[in-house]
Amino acid sequence: MKKILILFTLIILASLAWFFQPKILPYYQQLTKSRVGLNVNLQPISQKDAKFIGSKKCQECHKEEHKAWSSSLHSKMIQDIKADPSVVVANFSKLPKDADFTLKDAIYTIGSKFKQRYMIPAKINGKDDFRMGNYQWNVETQKWQQFKPYKYWYKDAYEHDNKVFPTSNTCDGCHFTGYMSREKRVELSISCESCHGAGSKHVSDPNNELYVASMADPIRTNEVCLQCHMRNRDKRLDGNLSVKDLWYIAKDYPSGYEAGEPLINYKKIAPHKLGFETKEFWANGAAKKNRTQGNEFVHDAMYKHGITCINCHNPHTLSNRADKPEGNKACMKCHSFNSVIGPHQASLEAHTHHKANSKGSQCIECHMPKTARHTGKSPLTVRSHKFSFTSPAESLKYKMPKETNACYACHKEKSLDELQKDLESWGMVEW
Ligand code: HEC
Ligand code: HEC
Ligand code: HEC
Ligand code: HEC
Ligand code: HEC
Ligand code: HEC
Ligand code: HEC
Ligand code: HEC
Repeated sequence: MKKILILFTLIILASLAWFFQPKILPYYQQLTKSRVGLNVNLQPISQKDAKFIGSKKCQECHKEEHKAWSSSLHSKMIQDIKADPSVVVANFSKLPKDADFTLKDAIYTIGSKFKQRYMIPAKINGKDDFRMGNYQWNVETQKWQQFKPYKYWYKDAYEHDNKVFPTSNTCDGCHFTGYMSREKRVELSISCESCHGAGSKHVSDPNNELYVASMADPIRTNEVCLQCHMRNRDKRLDGNLSVKDLWYIAKDYPSGYEAGEPLINYKKIAPHKLGFETKEFWANGAAKKNRTQGNEFVHDAMYKHGITCINCHNPHTLSNRADKPEGNKACMKCHSFNSVIGPHQASLEAHTHHKANSKGSQCIECHMPKTARHTGKSPLTVRSHKFSFTSPAESLKYKMPKETNACYACHKEKSLDELQKDLESWGMVEW
């Protein structure tokens, strides 16, 4: 009798514990597994001498993944104008007179969501290459705007003239499949093999493994995305070389990298020091440009604890987008109120001090404020991947424009000082 009673109590306790368990519990293994570190190569051996073959072949056996990927923008980064003229989103009848190209010259579009740029075949230094038109279409403002790609960190490595500025070294690794490691434009855009590695051997015998980024290895997993979603410098600048020494060979992507390999062997991260503003980052490290998700995320507590890009973004459909955010449920699948990982308040209102149905209670509005633009003349549209909250006082201290502060973005009638006082009255600041 006594035994049954104990068993009964245990069952009740276990179900209570199950019911009240922090939502992060299912991620226990991902978060606590020992890390391989930055230098371990996890590329399957059979892939080392395999070839890139393109996504059409993969479609034969993986229809579902192919369909999901086809609907994502990864499959539409570079589009062929001659094959489908409707991919052009710009108004070419308004193209400024000093443009160094016409629609006829352009064979590929780059991008479509925030801005579109145009690739034109060109022979540069005796090599068949591409150059960029000197105007880009800003989708948000619906206007043409100058585009001078040579003005970037590699400005001392290239002639300041779009007509002799090659995309091969400065763009194509991230926008074509195969160019990153093999210098071959195997397929337009970012397809299967950009993330899974070369597939020729797998196709002839599926027992030959492909690289699959897995939750059990958060560092290598994030790197599959970081090869492109992170601002960088040419790896050779690690040595004694200066940008000038890389005349016409400076690369803006981790040339040679393949999925599963240690990215650090190929990439030098764009520099940032806390307290110093650069062209790419505000003084607190938040993004000032697009394509900085990785630079911000690797300094976040979530990255340090083993959370990855694919915890929040389905790698094939690319869920959680600006045009289709998942709302608070994207965060609440791990976070719960009064849980170990926070928020450390009992309810949504108690944490945000806004009504539950208010925009001011959306996690991303405060933890992913819009801090960057897609071009110098675009509105603020790039959400920060530095998830820790930036207070009004911090924005002031680091001399960031007030528009990039989460509170100010919604309360433009108040000053940062007033908003800081509101925050302090909630008891939500540190010493
Ligand atoms: C002839 C059919 C076939 C083709 C073509 C094919 N696959 Fe596969 N793939 C399979 C089968 C079968 C499996 C399951 C193998 C297993 O579980 O051991 C698989 C598994 C996978 C996996 C998971 C691997 C793992 O270890 O869980 C990935 C990723 C993958 N394929 C990607 C691709 C890509 C990318 C391509 C194109 C380059 C491709 N496949 C082409 C049949 C195919
Ligand atoms: C942007 C990177 C990326 C691209 C592009 C991509 N994948 Fe994946 N794929 C992943 C990641 C990451 C995973 C692991 C997902 C996970 O564990 O949740 C994955 C998982 C898979 C799996 C295994 C599914 C499973 O549950 O075991 C298959 C099969 C696969 N991908 C096939 C493809 C095919 C085919 C394509 C092209 C049509 C493709 N992938 C394009 C990143 C990518
Ligand atoms: C080979 C380069 C490359 C890799 C690898 C890559 N991306 Fe991307 N990603 C891009 C580019 C380029 C775009 C912009 C596409 C466009 O606008 O057409 C993009 C767009 C996106 C978007 C926005 C999609 C939209 O509809 O607005 C998300 C989200 C994203 N990537 C997540 C990921 C994640 C997660 C991974 C890793 C699993 C990853 N990417 C790997 C290059 C890459
Ligand atoms: C290291 C990889 C990398 C390099 C190099 C790179 N890009 Fe991108 N590019 C990306 C990623 C990732 C995105 C999407 C993420 C984002 O914008 O935050 C993107 C976005 C874009 C977009 C916006 C797409 C849209 O739909 O609005 C355009 C246009 C673009 N890149 C053009 C270029 C050009 C031109 C070059 C060369 C001068 C270049 N990129 C170099 C990775 C890269
Ligand atoms: C904790 C969840 C989370 C993690 C981790 C995360 N993201 Fe995001 N990401 C989001 C959310 C939410 C959005 C914004 C949707 C919006 O703008 O409303 C977003 C936006 C983006 C966008 C812009 C999408 C667009 O529509 O233009 C890109 C690109 C992106 N993330 C890539 C990445 C990459 C690469 C990583 C890993 C380095 C990563 N994200 C890690 C949640 C996350
Ligand atoms: C109105 C702005 C606002 C909103 C909306 C908001 N937060 Fe916060 N969050 C804060 C502030 C302020 C802090 C405290 C920062 C500090 O002390 O440095 C914080 C801290 C946190 C922390 C750190 C742990 C803690 O409790 O201090 C986590 C985790 C967190 N928030 C998650 C979330 C999640 C998940 C959501 C959506 C359900 C959310 N937040 C919505 C303002 C907000
Ligand atoms: C897959 C699980 C997971 C998801 C999804 C997730 N988080 Fe987290 N988050 C964590 C873990 C684990 C920590 C680390 C907790 C710690 O440091 O004690 C954390 C920490 C945080 C922190 C405090 C530390 C920091 O660096 O900012 C904030 C704020 C936060 N998350 C916000 C968010 C927001 C906003 C979202 C949704 C866009 C989100 N999280 C989605 C697991 C997750
Ligand atoms: C996404 C928009 C948004 C963000 C971000 C936001 N708020 Fe609000 N806030 C609102 C709205 C809408 C109201 C109206 C009442 C409500 O919905 O709770 C409000 C109400 C308030 C109020 C009470 C009424 C008033 O106007 O004085 C205060 C105080 C306040 N917010 C301060 C802040 C502070 C401090 C932050 C940053 C931690 C912040 N808000 C972030 C939208 C926002």
